[in-house]
Amino acid sequence: MGTVSDSGNKVAETARSYDIATIPGDGIGVDVTVEACKVLDAAASKHGFSLRWTEFDYSCERYAKTGAMMPEDGVETLSGFDAVLLGAVGFPGVPDHVSLWGLLIPLRRAFSQYVNLRPVRLLPGTTSVLADRKADELEMVIVRENSEGEYSTLGGRHNQGQPGEFVLQESVFTRVGVERIIRYAFELARTRSLRVCSATKSNGIVHTMPFWDEIFELVSADYPDVEAEQCHIDALAARMVQRPDRLDVVVASNLFGDILSDLAAAVTGGLGLAPSGNINPEGTHPSMFEAVHGSAPDIAGQGIANPVAQILAGAMMLGQLGETEAARSVDVAVEQVLAEGRVITPDLGGKATTEQLGSAIAAAV
Ligand code: NAD
Ligand code: IPM
Ligand code: MN
Repeated sequence: MGTVSDSGNKVAETARSYDIATIPGDGIGVDVTVEACKVLDAAASKHGFSLRWTEFDYSCERYAKTGAMMPEDGVETLSGFDAVLLGAVGFPGVPDHVSLWGLLIPLRRAFSQYVNLRPVRLLPGTTSVLADRKADELEMVIVRENSEGEYSTLGGRHNQGQPGEFVLQESVFTRVGVERIIRYAFELARTRSLRVCSATKSNGIVHTMPFWDEIFELVSADYPDVEAEQCHIDALAARMVQRPDRLDVVVASNLFGDILSDLAAAVTGGLGLAPSGNINPEGTHPSMFEAVHGSAPDIAGQGIANPVAQILAGAMMLGQLGETEAARSVDVAVEQVLAEGRVITPDLGGKATTEQLGSAIAAAV
């Protein structure tokens, strides 16, 4: 099948196409996913490939109707796709641990998406809360362990309702799991600033964190060209605000990486701008792309959510599919529209709707 080039001529190349599953999910996840699909379609048609979308209704709404966030064969169904674009999961009415452990977390694990990659940077036209920082001082990537750690079902609640009631919540850190995420961070650092900072808390957490540090040291020995540093999570949180220029690749456990990624988003201009990829580096299963933010029930249904984070997550997806030029054109379009500053959403101080900002970016592509 031929494709139509920019000049309108039929070109003889074989059309590339990708099967993408979308799960808009809950709250603003629905609004921002529509805009991301619009922008990605524009990039696809510009760069001579197509995206075949299949939408799934997995959500809290579905839970209310059927008692399950996704059907029993949900994982199997999604496993046939090249990638998944996820909106957000969670809405008042369904307890968060039920909705998230019924959809997002099982997918990350079933698809062995053990890297959660969360890049942030100061985009043109946006203002950091750190007013004097320049773009090159505010650019970093959180490499978050995404399959084990503090997120575990091991534990239990005992003596419920009794004076001696207690709960136990176990963390799980495996040698394989820790080593592969740290190695991923060092490999990534070789494509960036040659610096890795590891988030630890081995002064207070006596088993898991010293183990994490030990593996960090072992792996770092294989990368003598990369500057390796460990920082306790409390001090690292302060440094992210006060000296963000001293951070580039930050590798962290599941929970630490979760918290640091919202902090990193906040210092670079807000949750409306930060994308995220749940990556299966071996490509044995689909990877899944989403914004760092959640379903934002406080602004859901108002049409004012910033779609940029989800659009940039879509660009990460294109990059992962091998469409690097298309990914680049989405990034550039986002930069251009934000730099112009005419069509921006209320979180950035503007008056535009989600749809208007999405359309402006699609047009810029
Ligand atoms: P949240 O990220 O949804 O919202 C935090 C704050 O940031 C809110 O004030 C919200 O209005 C604002 N915000 C977030 N995204 C925005 C955007 N694109 N544009 C403008 N403002 C934006 O975090 P929360 O309130 O802690 O969580 C809400 C629900 O989302 C919960 O159910 C939570 O469990 C879930 N959640 C899901 C995911 C996910 O699916 N990946 C991630 C985080 C939270
Ligand atoms: C995220 C979210 C999830 C996480 C929640 C909703 C379970 O906060 O993707 O950052 O902690 O992984
Ligand atoms: Mn989070």
